[in-house]
Amino acid sequence: MEMQTAGTNKRADIAARAIEIIDQNKSAEGPLLPILHGLQEEFGYVPPETLPLVANALNLSRAEVHGVFTFYHDYRSHPAGRHVLRICRAEACQSMGGDALAERAVELLGIDWSETSADGAVTLEPVYCLGLCACAPAAMLDGEMIGRLDDEQLQEIATEVRL
Ligand code: FES
Repeated sequence: MEMQTAGTNKRADIAARAIEIIDQNKSAEGPLLPILHGLQEEFGYVPPETLPLVANALNLSRAEVHGVFTFYHDYRSHPAGRHVLRICRAEACQSMGGDALAERAVELLGIDWSETSADGAVTLEPVYCLGLCACAPAAMLDGEMIGRLDDEQLQEIATEVRL
């Protein structure tokens, strides 16, 4: 019973904070992306239960909001792991062996794209150009850019994130 109350309170807190973020941004021009961005910044992901609140506030259908949310790879629907590894899947990185490295990352971490490992250690996300094409293949670990990623570095990362 107590656990249920805690869960209900948490949901109410998320909704209250989400409404504040929506209110702060809804009069901006093109408010949907800034709102989604604000929600992700606040919670580390965009709680799915906040999407209907966004739709209501902006007079959009839930399907429209959901469509935009899923179109952008930057938004998460679940909390991320303690570490986030993003690997560039765009053309310049692909042409420098990025595809093989991406497959290797999936294999080493034992998770698929946009998944978080069961121990909560790491989330693996695709990204489409990090602006580091000159140093392809590129990746980003916890916000830090990595250029000329190779198999050895990937192995180190896979070990480090689990320490
Ligand atoms: S294509 Fe990968 S960093 Fe630009």
